[in-house]
Amino acid sequence: MPLRLVEPDPRYQASYLDALRELKEEGNEHYLELVMPEEHGFAGASYTLDRLTDPDVFAEFCRFTKALEDPSTPMPAAWVTGTYLWILDDDTVVGRISLRHELTPWLREVGGHIGYAVRPSARNQGYATVALALMATVAADRGIDPALVTCDEDNLASRTVIERNGGVLEDVRNGKLRFWLPTATPTA
Ligand SMILES: CC(C)(COP(=O)(O)OP(=O)(O)OC[C@H]1O[C@@H](n2cnc3c(N)ncnc32)[C@H](O)[C@@H]1OP(=O)(O)O)[C@@H](O)C(=O)NCCC(=O)NCCS
Repeated sequence: MPLRLVEPDPRYQASYLDALRELKEEGNEHYLELVMPEEHGFAGASYTLDRLTDPDVFAEFCRFTKALEDPSTPMPAAWVTGTYLWILDDDTVVGRISLRHELTPWLREVGGHIGYAVRPSARNQGYATVALALMATVAADRGIDPALVTCDEDNLASRTVIERNGGVLEDVRNGKLRFWLPTATPTA
């Protein structure tokens, strides 16, 4: 089966946790964990590796992550709705990619519309390049065109992924390269 993007689903728990453990080893667990501080009107969320090993918590994490697409879901004030998808090769979780539906001032400056990560053992096989192309079509369906995609100046792998998908560099702000990616006609 070719690479695909899927919604969070408890059936991939074991593979997701393997990927999370790999990312944790390089200090990048935040890409697959989900932690939101408690604030007025929002109870907080803490889906860390330790907790996600519990199948019930994992199922709740999947429901919560999918609900982040829905504007009626309570979330921290600084968050916007988004689409959170997992990158699968066969039934193995190789990474994660997300699309923020709108840009706050911080996202416009730093975070961008789309973020992604591939587990270390699956890198340099083209997964992120294809995943970004697939997510570009999701963005286009939502009327987001072009999409802002950013990466650190020294993140050559991510820069390659963005440029392969047709990202056009606008500028560098505080060490972040800011690319605008046409989504209606992805090139990868
Ligand atoms: C960035 C990241 C998602 C790329 O995932 P990936 O699946 O390995 O990406 P791809 O295989 O599609 O493409 C990576 C390309 O960069 C190249 N590359 C990797 N490291 C490189 C380096 N240090 N210098 C130059 N090129 C590099 C690879 O060779 C590959 O190009 P190739 O196909 O011509 O060989 C992955 O490295 C990652 O998860 N990093 C940690 C999280 C992160 O940085 N996320 C992005 C935040 S903006």
